[in-house]
Amino acid sequence: MEHKSRKVPFVHLFCLLLLMSQLVFCQLDNKFYDSTCPNLTRIVRYGVWSAINNDTRMAASLVRLHFHDCFVNGCDGSILLDDIGSTFVGEKTSLANNNSARGYEVIDKIKANVEKACPSTVSCSDILALAARDAVSIAGGLYYYVPLGRRDGRTANITAANELPSPFESLDNIIAKFSSKGLDIKDVVVLSGAHTIGFAQCFTFKPRLFNFGGSGQPDPQLDASFLKGLQTVCPNQVDSDTTLVPLDSATVAKFDNSYFKNLVNNSGLLQSDHVLSTDNRTASMVLYYSKYLYPFLKDFGTSMVKMGNIGVLTGQDGEIRKNCRVVNY
Ligand code: HEM
Ligand SMILES: *[C@@H]1O[C@H](CO)[C@@H](O)[C@H](O)[C@H]1NC(C)=O
Ligand SMILES: *[C@@H]1O[C@H](CO)[C@@H](O)[C@H](O)[C@H]1NC(C)=O
Ligand SMILES: *[C@@H]1O[C@H](CO)[C@@H](O)[C@H](O)[C@H]1NC(C)=O
Ligand SMILES: *[C@@H]1O[C@H](CO)[C@@H](O)[C@H](O)[C@H]1NC(C)=O
Ligand SMILES: *[C@@H]1O[C@H](CO)[C@@H](O)[C@H](O)[C@H]1NC(C)=O
Ligand SMILES: *[C@@H]1O[C@H](CO)[C@@H](O)[C@H](O)[C@H]1NC(C)=O
Repeated sequence: MEHKSRKVPFVHLFCLLLLMSQLVFCQLDNKFYDSTCPNLTRIVRYGVWSAINNDTRMAASLVRLHFHDCFVNGCDGSILLDDIGSTFVGEKTSLANNNSARGYEVIDKIKANVEKACPSTVSCSDILALAARDAVSIAGGLYYYVPLGRRDGRTANITAANELPSPFESLDNIIAKFSSKGLDIKDVVVLSGAHTIGFAQCFTFKPRLFNFGGSGQPDPQLDASFLKGLQTVCPNQVDSDTTLVPLDSATVAKFDNSYFKNLVNNSGLLQSDHVLSTDNRTASMVLYYSKYLYPFLKDFGTSMVKMGNIGVLTGQDGEIRKNCRVVNY
């Protein structure tokens, strides 16, 4: 009798632990497709490599696509869904994505090759997470292992997509947005380091060049020669709004720590970048990463894995889309 009654609480504890690990780790697993799609990582890496070979900026675009997926409805591939007339509204025309997010065709191509090798097996959200990792490592960052097993959402939310962090927002707001996804201040700093690659349109920082905070003057904290160069590339007229400028002009296509070196130098492009070097909650981390490359690259992988866990669908939730642009019917 006594023996039996002891067994019950043990079983309950085991279930609780299982339940907890599901909640914490959401069941994602590095080896999730090892038996069901053994060539997956090769297929994705080849697709990303070809795309970057053709267009070096694509590395940046794929990293950002994963970020914009994860911050809206969790990492569920919702950013990849097309609008369907007026009956389905996706996230592609949201403030931060319209005429800005890119790389959709690259994911389509990879998905088509993955479907050939292992039909209806691999989610679009997992392909996006792997593509972002490969982009980072091909651009010179560190390879990190991506837990897999995400499933694709069947909905999108343009309202939530319109709340993606803006470069004009206060650091308090940005920290709050990250925090609401389970990411901390260190993650804000580390993940902002993705701005070591890629480009921004002039309108995303132009007030800093000509009318900082309504002063009619440039941001006094901008390095003078950096400012001068930007004013030349982005003159104070609307037709320069969409001109592209490197987020890290030192090494635009290299995934390194020069983003942080720029910040220390007062040469950060976006206001939301620059503030990281002046706010006392983040300045010491910026200085640290500006001096030490390896810790940044390593921490970046850690924070990407954390970001990749946001709100994931697992088990029987969601679906495995056949086409990343449209939900199965
Ligand atoms: C902290 C808040 C963030 C803000 C306010 C922000 C804002 C921006 C803006 C305004 C652009 C330029 C878009 C354009 O001009 O079309 C941009 C580009 C980019 N962002 Fe962020 N970002 C943030 C965080 C992140 C994170 C967490 C990542 C990835 C981990 C990321 C990766 C990128 C990349 C790689 C680009 C370049 C994309 C390309 O060239 O196609 N950003 N970001
Ligand atoms: C994986 O790729 C290799 C080389 O392209 C190929 O020979 C093999 O048949 C593929 N395996 C599967 C299970 O698709
Ligand atoms: C190569 O990149 C350009 C943009 O830079 C794009 O228009 C074109 O479709 C890409 N080609 C391939 C084969 O991916
Ligand atoms: C998105 O961009 C297109 C092309 O520039 C524009 O016509 C459309 O109005 C924009 N959509 C939204 C919702 O801003
Ligand atoms: C979409 O996102 C908004 C803003 O985050 C939220 O208030 C709303 O409940 C979401 N809609 C659905 C259907 O989840
Ligand atoms: C920024 O600092 C680096 C050295 O860390 C230096 O080589 C570079 O010239 C500086 N740039 C500016 C604009 O001060
Ligand atoms: C930052 O500065 C504020 C006021 O200047 C101070 O209250 C706070 O403790 C400081 N925080 C850190 C992390 O140093």
